[in-house]
Amino acid sequence: MSIHPDFLPTGMPTIGHRRSYGLVPEDQRLGVGVIGLHEGHTLLVALRASGLCRAVAGCDLSEEKRNYAAEAVEGLFVTDDYDALLARDDVKIVAIYTPDSFHAEHIERAFRAGKDVICTKPLINNPEEAGKLRAIAEETGRSLQVGQSTRFYETFQRQRELFEKGAFGEIEVVDAHYNHRMDWYYEKSPWTIADTHWAYLGLSHPVDLVRWYLGPIKQVQAVGTITSLGTQYGMKTPDAICVNLVGENGRVGRVLGNYGFHELPRARALIECLLMGADGTSLARYPDLRFTYHDENGVEIEEDYHHAMSGYYYRHELKGMHYGEFCNYTDYFASKVLAGEPNSPDLEEGLSTVMTMRAIVESLESGRVVDVEPVP
Ligand SMILES: NC(=O)c1ccc[n+]([C@@H]2O[C@H](COP(=O)([O-])OP(=O)(O)OC[C@H]3O[C@@H](n4cnc5c(N)ncnc54)[C@H](O)[C@@H]3O)[C@@H](O)[C@H]2O)c1
Repeated sequence: MSIHPDFLPTGMPTIGHRRSYGLVPEDQRLGVGVIGLHEGHTLLVALRASGLCRAVAGCDLSEEKRNYAAEAVEGLFVTDDYDALLARDDVKIVAIYTPDSFHAEHIERAFRAGKDVICTKPLINNPEEAGKLRAIAEETGRSLQVGQSTRFYETFQRQRELFEKGAFGEIEVVDAHYNHRMDWYYEKSPWTIADTHWAYLGLSHPVDLVRWYLGPIKQVQAVGTITSLGTQYGMKTPDAICVNLVGENGRVGRVLGNYGFHELPRARALIECLLMGADGTSLARYPDLRFTYHDENGVEIEEDYHHAMSGYYYRHELKGMHYGEFCNYTDYFASKVLAGEPNSPDLEEGLSTVMTMRAIVESLESGRVVDVEPVP
């Protein structure tokens, strides 16, 4: 198969190809300041492959994380004081990777400092802040990109490209999941047990995928349970959740998230999106660089990007790293900021996904079908 026209060499011959959203000389690239240097460290390193941005600053409360970041990026300004990062003129985009419950506050402060923002998923886990954030965005005129990494992974980008060309016709049913055994995460980040809800932290991937294809969601029905792994770690809310969703367009979706299950990687990838359209079906997977679909003759095609792009997506480290997706969404957002064009998922779309997750939590608690409320 020939290389996609949007791909460019990474510049590092050993790591194959990368996606491109544009290329400008280094001194014209937008400066990115990152807060939260665990997953955020991935972005700092990923930006080495960027054509539109450069890492200029990092903020974390942990000295060890700051030192590690300063070693990874030459000349990086590091601080434990978010205001010091926000005060820098060279920071044009602030990228937020702090624990979920801090996102709303960190977005608000970045907007007020005049910065455009990338915020990792889940955008926020406190929907009562949604209306306030929207008002501050309007008041300050700043833009926000939700860092929905799955959308920006190669196989999901390919699925979307074919969908936009009409290859699958109208989407009638979407079946998406994110299943991942999380003991390592509970050990590393204890806030994931008590300070968030897995309906936000985990389900934000598949719920966003369903919303991407069906548009705004009208109604949800959720059931859940606490797995034995969850019980072992003191989880008080479900860490295994199944949801049926109905779009405002009347089409339907189904989402599963199980964070205590024993993974079976030969059979099921951690994240999958099975799109069932009037004219065809396709399956995108993560962290598997294979994309499967029907061509116009009904022939099943499998595109395998492993050889071409595992360097870009994983830097030949652990399969499951997010370098490529993070670089993709940062460059995509920068290209939109530079062109003054709308981006997606933006704050409004992200908040509508947050309201869907809020309805999922309500359905889990009440056992009832719940209508998704508009952003307050
Ligand atoms: N696929 C993805 O896009 C993806 C993957 C993993 C995590 N995430 C998201 O990234 C976020 C962070 O997850 P993580 O796994 O890196 O968590 P983590 O607990 O490993 O790291 C959070 C970091 O934030 C720092 N921090 C906390 N409060 C701070 C503050 N006030 N100022 C500066 N630094 C502060 C902590 O010191 C820590 O280093 C979560 O919202 C998570 O959902 C997204």
